[in-house]
Amino acid sequence: MIGGFFFFRVVLLPIANRSTDSENLIASALRRFSGIVWTALLTILISGLYNFITFFRSARADASMDPVVSDHSLYIFVLGIKLFIVFLIFTLAIVLTFPYPVFSVYQKRPAPWLNLTVIFGLIVIFLSAYLRRLG
Ligand code: HEM
Repeated sequence: MIGGFFFFRVVLLPIANRSTDSENLIASALRRFSGIVWTALLTILISGLYNFITFFRSARADASMDPVVSDHSLYIFVLGIKLFIVFLIFTLAIVLTFPYPVFSVYQKRPAPWLNLTVIFGLIVIFLSAYLRRLG
């Protein structure tokens, strides 16, 4: 999903802006991309929840063995920041790809919102790798 937004921003948008019918090209590409976004959002939510439950199960098992060693406060703090940024990514993904008139102002000039989505996506991926090491 993050790669898709990156391709949109770095490859498709500059080319579309040079074409005579850029608005239509961008709008139809965003509409087509929404199918992928929905699938990705659902998959990420399911796998994320699975990781979440797995982590808390192992944390509880650790705590029952030795409460002193198993301090997961930093992990939970970083996961909290990650989930907040994920919420922003999901919001931007919906605003950029779903066919509601209220979103058309953003979809007509998607560049700044695509930039934000890609930057947030990279931050989430790095935070996740850090969580993996913390975990
Ligand atoms: C844009 C959305 C998201 C992206 C790009 C993302 C990315 C990732 C990546 C790349 C990893 C693996 C890190 C590694 O193996 O080095 C990961 C792990 C994880 N993710 Fe996500 N994730 C997203 C959303 C979520 C959501 C919504 C949840 C919770 C509901 C979640 C919870 C977790 C947890 C608990 C881990 C395991 C960390 C560990 O190994 O302890 N993620 N995520």
